[in-house]
Amino acid sequence: MDNNKIRQDFPILRRTMGGCPLVYFDNGATTLKPQPVIDAVVNYYTYLGANAHRGDYEMSGQVDEAFEGARKRAQKYLNAADVSEIVFTSGSSMGLNEVAIMVTRQFLKEGDVVLSDESEHASSYLPWTQAGKDKGVNVEFIPLDEEGKITVENFKKALHDNVKVVAFAQVSNVLGFEAPVKEIVKICHERDILVVVDGAQSTPHLPIDVQDLDVDFFALSAHKMCGPTGIGVLYGKKKYLDVLEPVFYGGESNARYTKCDLVLKDSPLKFESGTQPIEAVLGMKAAMDYIDSIGKDKIHAYEVELKKYFLEKTKDMENLIVYNRNSESGIVTFNMMDNGKMIFSQDVASYLNTKGIAVRSGQHCAKLLPDILGAPGTIRASFYFYNTKEEIDYFVEQLKTVTMANCINIFF
Ligand code: ALA
Repeated sequence: MDNNKIRQDFPILRRTMGGCPLVYFDNGATTLKPQPVIDAVVNYYTYLGANAHRGDYEMSGQVDEAFEGARKRAQKYLNAADVSEIVFTSGSSMGLNEVAIMVTRQFLKEGDVVLSDESEHASSYLPWTQAGKDKGVNVEFIPLDEEGKITVENFKKALHDNVKVVAFAQVSNVLGFEAPVKEIVKICHERDILVVVDGAQSTPHLPIDVQDLDVDFFALSAHKMCGPTGIGVLYGKKKYLDVLEPVFYGGESNARYTKCDLVLKDSPLKFESGTQPIEAVLGMKAAMDYIDSIGKDKIHAYEVELKKYFLEKTKDMENLIVYNRNSESGIVTFNMMDNGKMIFSQDVASYLNTKGIAVRSGQHCAKLLPDILGAPGTIRASFYFYNTKEEIDYFVEQLKTVTMANCINIFF
């Protein structure tokens, strides 16, 4: 992987922050965009411009072709069996909410249980609590192990006859642990339990094959994998998408209607009411092309190498607490101490900002996890393939200057 060449594809890496060269380690929140993705978005506005599936003229036909081509590209990216299983959404949150609402409404009854866990991102867990609250469908938790991981053993302990859905992330956004998806799916399908997987943090880094995983639903966000914001994919097995009733209604999703009757189109269009963010769909296709041109295996191996490099360089820093040494990902989640006291994570992040370093701090949209970690918040550095060991050297150098006083002084 030619890291220097790759970095040239990302114009934003030429900017500064806090008067320093930008060191972007907030890739878990969103990734930067390479020029081919920016070009795809601009190209739509510059040369295509029309709506999708609406016109009978040349330009709109070109949009239709590009739009449905992007769907086929997403099918290939996830190795879905059928293109009708690829529904465009605004991102993982929307996809997971739609699944929770539709599945709860049509497939669940009072007393049924959705199994999730305490490391979950809000978007993987909250849709089920909210969709189920008026119907008497409750969410229960798979206990995490001492490192904060989901294990098959713990999953089996949490399972019982009322569990009808299991919903979890393939890779946790705070600790970066990969869940044993295939094993869990196998156990679930022996008991007719649906499996819904949040792929927001896995699709940017790991090769995904939804047929091999055999998941029933899987959601991704393009912006976490070099694509535009506001677009994502909900994958659902055809047998479920064929019978589910959409959450939203409007133009394009219906085949015909009268004052008292409605006939919907087939999936995926029945789930895509209203004009879609067409430029973002095309940008997402460009992102998939870009990532696959590098190769997910290489991307993942490189991120893990960066993490190991960071851990090696900081092994003697006694004031650094790392919570996820053993997760095979590019995520390092930590806190910093000063004289036995934990420095407020947001103060550390604000201090690093003055050095040009972007990290995320706080609870990272996973607000049940701090109790498990025993810390009110953490600092998360999430590496991606355009980051370098030189950036990590600089990061470690700056971490060594972190003290309670230095962090507080930036505010005065
Ligand atoms: N889910 C995103 C994160 O983990 C926003 O930062």
